[in-house]
Amino acid sequence: YSEEQEGVLQAYDWSAKLFHHVLKHTADGKAGLNYLKKRGFEPDTIEEFQLGYSPDRNEFLAAFLKGKGYELEQLADYGLVQSTNQGSYYDRFKDRVIFPIKNHQGKIIAFGGRAFKEHQEPKYLNSPESKLFHKGRVLYNFHLARKHFQKEKEVILFEGYMDVIKAYQAGVYNAVATLGTSLSETHAKTLKRYVKQAVICFDGDDAGRNASFKSANILRQAGLEVRVAHIPERQDPDEYIDRYGGEYFKQKVLQPAQTYIAFALEYYKKDYNLNLDHDRIAYIEKALDIIATSEYPVERDFHLKELEDTFHLNRETLMDEIEKRTSRIK
Ligand code: CTP
Ligand code: MN
Ligand code: MN
Ligand code: MN
Ligand code: MN
Repeated sequence: YSEEQEGVLQAYDWSAKLFHHVLKHTADGKAGLNYLKKRGFEPDTIEEFQLGYSPDRNEFLAAFLKGKGYELEQLADYGLVQSTNQGSYYDRFKDRVIFPIKNHQGKIIAFGGRAFKEHQEPKYLNSPESKLFHKGRVLYNFHLARKHFQKEKEVILFEGYMDVIKAYQAGVYNAVATLGTSLSETHAKTLKRYVKQAVICFDGDDAGRNASFKSANILRQAGLEVRVAHIPERQDPDEYIDRYGGEYFKQKVLQPAQTYIAFALEYYKKDYNLNLDHDRIAYIEKALDIIATSEYPVERDFHLKELEDTFHLNRETLMDEIEKRTSRIK
């Protein structure tokens, strides 16, 4: 880190400590603390993730950091405070529960602030991109999760940091999340250096399924083996864990996560009307494309058998089609 960046990291650290203190020990923080309790956060979790609360005041953090001798102009570049046209500075995070975002070395480089009162927009406010914070590179909780990749042999990928924290609380430690962006090639390459398999566990809605498909392809491209977990319609992992607990989450969601091929075969069905002959045929062609990407003969065979049975096809034809496609791929 440059000298400037060392200073900013220190300022972020102080700010996190301040917000954490406010959450736990002040009247200002009461509402935030109640919100977290209501959402099922345990005191240990609040400690581990250094959760905090930013008061509803214009110059709370700004005054604090100024008092510590920091140049607010510099900190504005890193999203800790905002500047007015008049050259004064005010707080970016107001009346929000604060989630410190750490880089892969465990240093705080940004905040995520969650609104929890009515009419407060947006729901999540993150620090802006800076020389320290690149959303396309950092994964939430990576510095803790990496220690568990080897034992678990896989990484769990969530949409949100709520999901990561709830999973952690439920005993799932090998989980990370992107930060309000979709998974990038850089994210995937980083993961590939530490782990061979990924389980995608996004929200149970169309957005979640579309993002699952996109992310699955990116991860696979980077050489990871991918499975996709299914969360019941309109729930997300954090709600699921609240409702059913960690054991159930592991047994009913993570463990039966579908292989990439099985997920993709199902995912594509929505694009076709399987009651129409020409659509059925187009879907079968698509399905063959997908099956041909499997490097495992048994897996290919398994899905060809499914196609054969579902669409009453001739096995030889299917085998020929796979042969054509795999020789093209090679
Ligand atoms: N996000 C964001 N800005 C928003 C909404 C979402 O940056 N306005 C990002 C956040 O990083 C969040 C992730 O997208 O963690 C997932 O969004 P969502 O599913 O809406 O949030 P949850 O994680 O379910 O949070 P909560 O349970 O508090 O609603
Ligand atoms: Mn503490
Ligand atoms: Mn969502
Ligand atoms: Mn969600
Ligand atoms: Mn949620």
